[in-house]
Amino acid sequence: MKQHVKHYSIAVVALLAILIAGGAVFVYSGVYNIGADDHHTRPVFAILQALRERSIHARSEHIVVPNLEDPQLILKGAGQYAAMCTDCHLKPGMSDSEIRPGLYPQPPNLSQVRVDPKDAFWIIKHGIKMSAMPAWGTSHEDPAIWSMVAFLQKLPDMTPQQYKEMVAKAPPDEDMDMGDEDGGHSHSHGGDEAEGHHQGEAGSMAQADEGHAHEASPAAQPELSREGLTPRAAPDAEAAAQAFHGALQRGDRTVVLGMLAPEATLTEDGQTQSRETYAADHLAEDIAFLKHATVVPLWMGSMPMGDIAMVGSEARITPTRDGKPRVLRSHERLTLKKYGSAWKITAVQWQSAPEETTP
Ligand code: HEC
Repeated sequence: MKQHVKHYSIAVVALLAILIAGGAVFVYSGVYNIGADDHHTRPVFAILQALRERSIHARSEHIVVPNLEDPQLILKGAGQYAAMCTDCHLKPGMSDSEIRPGLYPQPPNLSQVRVDPKDAFWIIKHGIKMSAMPAWGTSHEDPAIWSMVAFLQKLPDMTPQQYKEMVAKAPPDEDMDMGDEDGGHSHSHGGDEAEGHHQGEAGSMAQADEGHAHEASPAAQPELSREGLTPRAAPDAEAAAQAFHGALQRGDRTVVLGMLAPEATLTEDGQTQSRETYAADHLAEDIAFLKHATVVPLWMGSMPMGDIAMVGSEARITPTRDGKPRVLRSHERLTLKKYGSAWKITAVQWQSAPEETTP
């Protein structure tokens, strides 16, 4: 019995030694061709492919995907993609590049294939070992990577012309500190932006908040900017936005709710709510507030993007009921989606702040 075990162990150890020695000979002899132009055999390629897929999936599974339909995010991604990815992944109307044919594995043509957002985020952030795909996470923050993911979802549907126009409008690559904590820029109005309100109790709330406005983390909320928006770029989406404003000011609940898509979200000064919550609660407050206020539209601009569009606008709101009215500057950004021939609003963002009074 004991003898058996002994023989068996010796055999196992001998076999292992042979395998290790064989491996060492294989590695040190140089027989393996590491050249990128010498492709893997089919079974090896299949194993590597499975390994790649499982590894990525296991790591990307629990990633939470943000709203990828935000046109400003998509636009930012267009700029990033054009600057960093086209040599390897091509673009609409480009059939090959100088570098791509020599790469192995060959980078997929991302103007033709759509990659799952979670996988894409993970791959762009971490790269893929022993391939030419770099880990962009070493030089880019997550929001910048999400912008590329958002853009990649749209890319396969784009014509060369649409691609060119979008890239031309995109903000430059450096612009990726989405309202971060660099005090200088956010301070000019960021402190005020985080407080203030759209609703009835606006005046008193804003005043009460004044004391700790600076601790109220203006950084949490990137300011709604005019970036990428042009007046009348999407006239019918702008008309829909105006109809929405008109209905709010008239207090026409049915039209307001009719224009909000079922999945719509509304974000007022950083607080996001669903359409249902808004209908049950804040809508009445907004209507009551606007009933006793004058609204002067100051600016409107839009960005079309196939069946979605964004409309940004600014207005001056002067409450007419309170003793000493506090003039508010409100910023709005609507994301709209075309359902058949009608635009519906899928996201509303509102920010308002007391208007800076010029002496
Ligand atoms: C130097 C060439 C190179 C550059 C530049 C490059 N990639 Fe890649 N990328 C690759 C290669 C090669 C692969 C395939 C790797 C593999 O399958 O093992 C890949 C894979 C990907 C994938 C996964 C595709 C799929 O079908 O699973 C995504 C997504 C991706 N890259 C996005 C990007 C983005 C976004 C950029 C620009 C920020 C970029 N890449 C820049 C070479 C590159």
